[in-house]
Amino acid sequence: MIKPDGVSRGLIGKVISRIEDKGLKIVGMKMIKLDENLAKKHYAEHKDKPFFESLISFITSAPSVAMAIEGKDAVRILRSIIGNTDPKESPIGTIRGDFGIDVGKNIVHASDSIESAKRELELFFSEEELVKYKRAGEEWIYES
Ligand code: RTP
Ligand code: MG
Repeated sequence: MIKPDGVSRGLIGKVISRIEDKGLKIVGMKMIKLDENLAKKHYAEHKDKPFFESLISFITSAPSVAMAIEGKDAVRILRSIIGNTDPKESPIGTIRGDFGIDVGKNIVHASDSIESAKRELELFFSEEELVKYKRAGEEWIYES
């Protein structure tokens, strides 16, 4: 998901390009301004953390772009494309390392496990909103 800072700073295209350039496939995408209810469900694991209220206020402050992304090892690869939670600690070459400075404005979210990906996809997309298609050149990305 491209968070409100990424959308508001005009970084949608740059973030999507990195995902496409890697060879991953976008199978669902929508612009959505999270309401408080959805934001709290999405970040439920952090409900007792000191930064929870500011996180919810930030994530509901402007539109985000939610994406469903498919590919071999997609969860692990996406986490490496986005980088560390704190952009200051994130290597140059990652989205957060290249575009961010403060932890509360770190541009993108990515699911951290298959289980959280399943849970989050259900929060954001219905079955009908996810598509199946073959990306041209997949045979030049995957060995089999
Ligand atoms: P995300 O869920 O957004 O992809 O981020 P993440 O897995 O890298 O990090 P996570 O621990 O899940 O934290 C969720 C978001 O909360 C904010 N945060 N602030 N002030 C703090 O110490 C702090 N720690 C985390 C960040 O915006 C983080 O992305
Ligand atoms: Mg997280």
